[in-house]
Amino acid sequence: MSELVITIDGPAGSGKSTVARRLADRLDATFLDTGAMYRAITLAAVRDGADLGEERRLVQVVEGHRFDFEAVRGKMLVSIDGQDVTEAIRDSDLTAKVRYAASAPLVRERLVQMQRAFAAQHARIVTEGRDQGTVAFPDADVKFYLTADATERARRRKAELDAQGEPADLQQIRQAIEARDKSDENRAVGPLKAAQDAVTVDTTGLTIEQVVERLYRHVEERCPRNH
Ligand code: DC
Repeated sequence: MSELVITIDGPAGSGKSTVARRLADRLDATFLDTGAMYRAITLAAVRDGADLGEERRLVQVVEGHRFDFEAVRGKMLVSIDGQDVTEAIRDSDLTAKVRYAASAPLVRERLVQMQRAFAAQHARIVTEGRDQGTVAFPDADVKFYLTADATERARRRKAELDAQGEPADLQQIRQAIEARDKSDENRAVGPLKAAQDAVTVDTTGLTIEQVVERLYRHVEERCPRNH
């Protein structure tokens, strides 16, 4: 059983991955990037030539491969059957296909089980995604919900792509982000939403350091013996 579970949910580009990593570092905890799980299942399904719209086939993909997730030096290393796919799962074509696995209830059920199993193996975790405070860890010690306006999120994504030498159009990125928000918010199972008891932080105009500091202070207040 974990002694400390912190959840961070929010839309793409809200800064939650970087914040989760840094907060985990400050709290001497491990982080879990649950988006990487949906991405890995999707990549395995594409490689298997599976019909992504067929839920039972996606479940076979989940059950037919070994998926490993490990946080090493601030990075989530992901492998499928022992083969490293850490970079491959970030591909933008793949990103656009993740919504199939994300909206399949039986796939979500299995991934939530994998997330709980991961937590059970670590004393302290900071986990980030869309449904971590609402579905996966309803009894988490502290729940956060990060937001930021869509234009700022698109700008952050563009800066990341520019840094990787992949120039992209801001307007197109914004449209892709809005499409993903819509599909994340409107799915029937595990939709993107703040848990009732989550602390919502709007990160528009804040630096990563400022966000991490704010979250850390909340953890200090809520869990005085655990920070
Ligand atoms: O955080 P990310 O961009 O890596 O997530 C990729 C996709 O996975 C995102 O569009 C929604 C889905 N996802 C989800 O449905 N539930 C989670 N807990 C995490 C991600």
